[in-house]
Amino acid sequence: MPGQDFIAEPPDVDLTQRLQRLAVVAADLVLPGMLVGLGTGSTADTVIHELGRRVVEGLDFTAVPTSCRTAALARDLGIPLTTLDEVDRLDLGIDGADEIDPQLDAIKGRGGALLCEKLVALACADYVLVATTEKSVDTLGALTPLPVEIVSFGWAQTAQRLRELGIDPVRRSSAGDPTQPWVSDNGGMILDCTTGLIDDPFRLSAAVKAVSGVVEHGLFLGIARAALQVDPGGQVVRRERPSA
Ligand code: A5P
Repeated sequence: MPGQDFIAEPPDVDLTQRLQRLAVVAADLVLPGMLVGLGTGSTADTVIHELGRRVVEGLDFTAVPTSCRTAALARDLGIPLTTLDEVDRLDLGIDGADEIDPQLDAIKGRGGALLCEKLVALACADYVLVATTEKSVDTLGALTPLPVEIVSFGWAQTAQRLRELGIDPVRRSSAGDPTQPWVSDNGGMILDCTTGLIDDPFRLSAAVKAVSGVVEHGLFLGIARAALQVDPGGQVVRRERPSA
């Protein structure tokens, strides 16, 4: 298919093996001396494990983690870390996604790390999404709600203002206690907003961002330059962002 570069062989494989194949291809993007943004989530974790193996074998790079969870994993694996405040620019960012459309615009944040993920993504010269092909959609909003991080003060009123945009926010609950809100690394709450198909993601992005109480949302628009996606047969496909 034009614009696609087939990288691996396609035998039948389970999800763990698929993600491992994806991780190997993604880890190949990390070159010695690079500053790399490390994403959050199960797919990013697989890449981080692969990078940890390569560090043990002598790969020398430095990472900026996008969450406490990723920082802890990277530290355990011996990956040298720095912070966003200590660098001007990152060479590369690698992160998972919940949905990816044909322009490589994405919804992220099911893991709740969308704020730091976006701040890191925006600092990356090159930014690559890693996902299974099941995350591909024609139109964003098809599979998952849009996560929106808000400040906890006055959260119900912020939710009401979002509702007035025509979306349906539900406060994310703590896994341990459903009566309590889930709390992000930054002390914020997440509202999972059912949107329906998002015909104009840039318009929704601007509208949500303009709501008082909103800190950030999970629409990652015009950021990814490429996506590495693994299909059910274990074949890894690289897609480039179409030129405007
Ligand atoms: C974390 O906040 C998210 O943006 C994840 O990157 C995204 O939800 C994909 O997660 P999985 O790789 O676990 O599906």
